[in-house]
Amino acid sequence: APLVLRTVAETAAWAESIRRSGRRLALVPTMGFLHEGHVSLMREGRRRADVAAASIFVNPTQFGPKEDLSRYPRDLEGDLAKCASAGVEAVFSPVPAEVYPPGYQTYVDVEQVSQGLCGARRPGHFRGVATVVTKLLCLFKPQLALFGEKDYQQLQVIRALERDLNLGVEIIGMPTVREPDGLAMSSRNAYLSPEERQRALSLSRGLAAAQALCRSGTRDTPALVAAVRRELEAAGLREDYVELVDATSLTPLPAVSPGQTARLLVAAFVGSTRLIDNQPIGG
Ligand code: PAJ
Repeated sequence: APLVLRTVAETAAWAESIRRSGRRLALVPTMGFLHEGHVSLMREGRRRADVAAASIFVNPTQFGPKEDLSRYPRDLEGDLAKCASAGVEAVFSPVPAEVYPPGYQTYVDVEQVSQGLCGARRPGHFRGVATVVTKLLCLFKPQLALFGEKDYQQLQVIRALERDLNLGVEIIGMPTVREPDGLAMSSRNAYLSPEERQRALSLSRGLAAAQALCRSGTRDTPALVAAVRRELEAAGLREDYVELVDATSLTPLPAVSPGQTARLLVAAFVGSTRLIDNQPIGG
């Protein structure tokens, strides 16, 4: 079983001991209720470094007042078993007061890339993400840290903060791991009833339909976005957004030009559960 680190002090001491032994450290930050997507990051971290560590922390500062912080799924025992099988040596699993003690007042705000998409619909979300990820990178001082493309805007926010704050950590983006039928794995899939689980397939189906349309020569944004909307509507999902953007800056594009690296992103509600997905488009 992995070593469970409960405090900042013991985590700093553990990471320092890894550094002093000359071993390269990979960090995988998570909020737990781990699935194969998380495990793929851990295995890749273990492959690219000498030691892999993870954090399991449901970060309160990235949840809005009406969001699912209090009911976010948790299973520390199951998670530790998955970490062990992925070769993770240590897991930082603190209580909130360890990360945000009384008097805590410092936040990281990544400006441009946090603004649209999920940032526009979840005010303060990326401020909370950027703050906790900065704290974790400063605490562990890993050589590399791994994040999933499932949360594509989050990955760009983290790339920006690492660069802007000169953290010197290699940020690795990893492909989205999907269920056999195409649904992107997510801890929040646990909220779905069997019937909602089936309707949730409309996100990945819509993205695939748009990509097929793009490959057959329809490259203007309204038509590609409409292809995603048709799938969402057919399944009775409520759209939060469907946007086609530049893959790095995340600024909206009027069309996919040949050779351009564009990304199509979707967020939608299945009942009260908000799901997101994205994929590259064009090429
Ligand atoms: P969480 O949702 O637990 O995700 C942890 C990491 O796993 C993120 O980098 C996320 O992109 C990645 N991930 C989730 N589902 C995935 C999938 N299906 N395929 C590949 N990777 C996947 O994202 C967070 O936690 C938090 O915001 C965090 C970064 C830990 C900060 O609190």
